Amino acid sequence: MSDTFDLTRLGPPHFALDELADYIVDRHHRYVQGASPAIRQALSLAVDHWGAAHAPLLAVQALFDELADELDSHMAKEEHILFPAIRDLVEARRRHRPSMPAAFATLLYPIRAMESEHARARQLVAELQRETEHYAAPPVADDAGRDCYRQLARFDADLDTHIHLENDILFPKALDLEQHAA
Ligand SMILES: [Fe+2]
Ligand SMILES: [Fe+2]
Repeated sequence: MSDTFDLTRLGPPHFALDELADYIVDRHHRYVQGASPAIRQALSLAVDHWGAAHAPLLAVQALFDELADELDSHMAKEEHILFPAIRDLVEARRRHRPSMPAAFATLLYPIRAMESEHARARQLVAELQRETEHYAAPPVADDAGRDCYRQLARFDADLDTHIHLENDILFPKALDLEQHAA
């Protein structure tokens, strides 16, 4: 899987949106699913080893737990409900069928729901940035602790790209395709 998606392929009529949805799942959802348990485990070890000497670490652990739990259910909704509907819409347009065979009349409401979950995830990330002072491991951290903070920084950067691809490209272009290409 390439590290970037060639956005020039998304020009009208947006038929590559199904490939973008696949790319987001393969590149970003799978990354979150692999990194979340690893970071949870690293945070738990850090709390055991030097958490008593660094009070904010417990808040970092609680924030990451909440973020990982929310992303888990969020990505399941995208993978099982919204993205299949976007793929169906692209396929319908490709075959010049006028309407999408989806469970809902418009993509607007599931997209708005996902955007509001993105806003919540970004709030949690902002709190994580504050509590970790932008992922600067404290002097008391051991090697594993420093690595844990690096993993948190990478998780933050990946989520930023992931949400950008959905909020700013996939979702508006899917709505555009729904409204204008019948
Ligand atoms: Fe996603
Ligand atoms: Fe999302």
